[in-house]
Amino acid sequence: MGHILIENLNKEFIERRQHKRDKEGRPESDRTVTVLEDLDLEFEAGEMVCILGPSGCGKSTLLRIIAGFEQPSSGRVLQDGRQLSKPSPDNIFVYQHNGLLPWMTVWQNIELGIRRLEDPVEQEETIQEYIDMVELEGFEHHYPHQLSGGMQRRAELARALVVNPEMLIMDEPFSGLDFLTHMKMREEVVNMHLYLGKTILLVTHNIDDALIMGDRVVILSGRPAQVKLNRKLDFPHPRDPKTAPKLQELREEIFFMLGVSYAV
Ligand SMILES: Nc1ncnc2c1ncn2[C@@H]1O[C@H](COP(=O)(O)OP(=O)(O)O)[C@@H](O)[C@H]1O
Ligand SMILES: [Mg+2]
Repeated sequence: MGHILIENLNKEFIERRQHKRDKEGRPESDRTVTVLEDLDLEFEAGEMVCILGPSGCGKSTLLRIIAGFEQPSSGRVLQDGRQLSKPSPDNIFVYQHNGLLPWMTVWQNIELGIRRLEDPVEQEETIQEYIDMVELEGFEHHYPHQLSGGMQRRAELARALVVNPEMLIMDEPFSGLDFLTHMKMREEVVNMHLYLGKTILLVTHNIDDALIMGDRVVILSGRPAQVKLNRKLDFPHPRDPKTAPKLQELREEIFFMLGVSYAV
């Protein structure tokens, strides 16, 4: 489960400009802005898909449409052959940074995500299992402000996973983390993906994230976003682009595609 087919997807927004004045002082007319244009993509069930593209090109818009929060202007998204009409926590969980409730402990935040299980012992065991999975044992009763940035992200990850959705959508999940914490979180997400095998769609602006994590890398062009590259990465984990010549080649190709000639 978690197969995604995107067919001929277009998204336009109306940009309100009537509060602006032209040279003659008249209100400007509203403009239609095309954000996504004729997007065709297919993701296999269980794939980790990393999506790259310039800022403002429509990556978050694409994720919001897949999650059912936003309707396309035309075209469609099918999940396991079915068109989604509204957001559903059974299918998709959107991992949102800063999503922890500050007045609740790690345990309570994670408990919020879980559907009430009949058996309270089973419920406790499940919550503990996810806390252990993200290595937060001993911090169950801490509040978010008592945790480091990396620990907060791991608690957010546990809360997303405890919902046990078919698919996880992550929009720039590592933004704002320090370098080492970023590396560790990346490793953690890869391990979690290998262990759980869920479809993950992850937007990042970091090319190495995509090369180290992705089963598939998708690069979108500037607005209107079109698919510039859609490549399956058939390399075992753990990966190191500095030692795998094929990954290194692809890395250079991607940097070049994004307008950077010399990447170190
Ligand atoms: N609800 C909206 N109304 C109007 N314009 C929007 C809306 N949502 C996004 N946009 C525009 O669509 C473009 C793509 O936005 P976004 O998907 O957030 O880009 P990215 O995530 O790639 O940085 C931006 O120019 C943004 O201003
Ligand atoms: Mg975005």
